[in-house]
Amino acid sequence: MKKIIALVRGDGSGPEMMAVACAVAVEAAKKDGVEIVFEETPMGWCAYKEYGDTLPPQSFKRAVEIGTIFFGAVGDPAFDNTIGGEKPEMKPEARCLLALRKRMALLLNFRPMIFYPELRHLSPLRPELIPDWVVKQIFIRFLLQDTYFGNLDLMDLFPIEIRVSLGIKLKKDVIGDEDMITDLAYFFRETVEKYMRAAFIHAQQLGLPLISVDKANVMSRYEFWRKIATKIGGEFPDVPLRHQFVDSANALLFVPEKLHGVIACGNEHGDILSDGAAAALGSMGMMCSSAINPDTGAAMFESGAGTAPSLAGQDKANPLGRILSAALMLRHIGAPVGAEAIEKAVMLVLRDGWRTADLSSGTECSDKIIGTRAMGEKVLSYL
Ligand code: IPM
Ligand code: MG
Repeated sequence: MKKIIALVRGDGSGPEMMAVACAVAVEAAKKDGVEIVFEETPMGWCAYKEYGDTLPPQSFKRAVEIGTIFFGAVGDPAFDNTIGGEKPEMKPEARCLLALRKRMALLLNFRPMIFYPELRHLSPLRPELIPDWVVKQIFIRFLLQDTYFGNLDLMDLFPIEIRVSLGIKLKKDVIGDEDMITDLAYFFRETVEKYMRAAFIHAQQLGLPLISVDKANVMSRYEFWRKIATKIGGEFPDVPLRHQFVDSANALLFVPEKLHGVIACGNEHGDILSDGAAAALGSMGMMCSSAINPDTGAAMFESGAGTAPSLAGQDKANPLGRILSAALMLRHIGAPVGAEAIEKAVMLVLRDGWRTADLSSGTECSDKIIGTRAMGEKVLSYL
């Protein structure tokens, strides 16, 4: 079976990391008889240089049409301050990601935290608090609506006088001398129900409890969220449901085993919590992420880590987060054997002591510290 995937190589060290992640994906998918063909859909500052837009319309259209995107991170502070200073709307992180999430209705953002015992010493947590393989923390962030899209989505509901009096503006229209500014946050019942059901199904399949994160003690939309979580939970009597306030969930990030389960959280809460959780992995470079539309199957695979611009062109950035995102992608496109093989290969590479610079603590033999390309080759050889 042939599978076309839209490829965004991205900025900074993105292209170096994506080159090795793509090679690993192509090789691993062969185990399931899947032939992956990447089609370039350039986005980010690299695309701006060529097309005058960080989200060129033809790239956007084609990526949406293809429906499966392998997304290297976009963004580079060097351009944010120059071209981005004059044209802030071009800053690619929000421009590209939010447009793709919205257009493709990517409701579910999976951010599984995979704790590798070999990286334990790099974690900011006390060693005895680092979980072993038994602890699973699967964040499923609600990736639409909420504060991220409120003003944009609800703009037309309000007459101009009301918008002015409430300070409802789009980000691009903010001048800075407003007396009041408002970001509208909203959840639609139908969407939250669909999301919760998907999260519960996932928890059920994995035999994990569902931890629903909210701020129901203060906010009405989270009171609503909690009621829906409880109602949908009734459909899954075999999945234990726990409600957790977001502030206390944040404190529990320092004791990961207390957040063992599928963690359901709103868009903004999920953004913040998942980075905090990833810090415990030892390096942000180890985080993987997928965004999925549960109705159409449209999906985007990215890494939580950024573009590592300071390492660009030096063959130093850690590609493992991208490679692990490729495993999520393979599982999604029907190549589960390849997905499993990638995850196992990463584990073996780390077990045998191979490290990119960000994963080295200074105690490793220097000949075990390898670059982006060599790390890709190691993973390939362990496939
Ligand atoms: C993430 C990022 C994005 C977000 C930004 C770059 C738009 O932080 O995927 O977590 O806030 O969702
Ligand atoms: Mg984030």
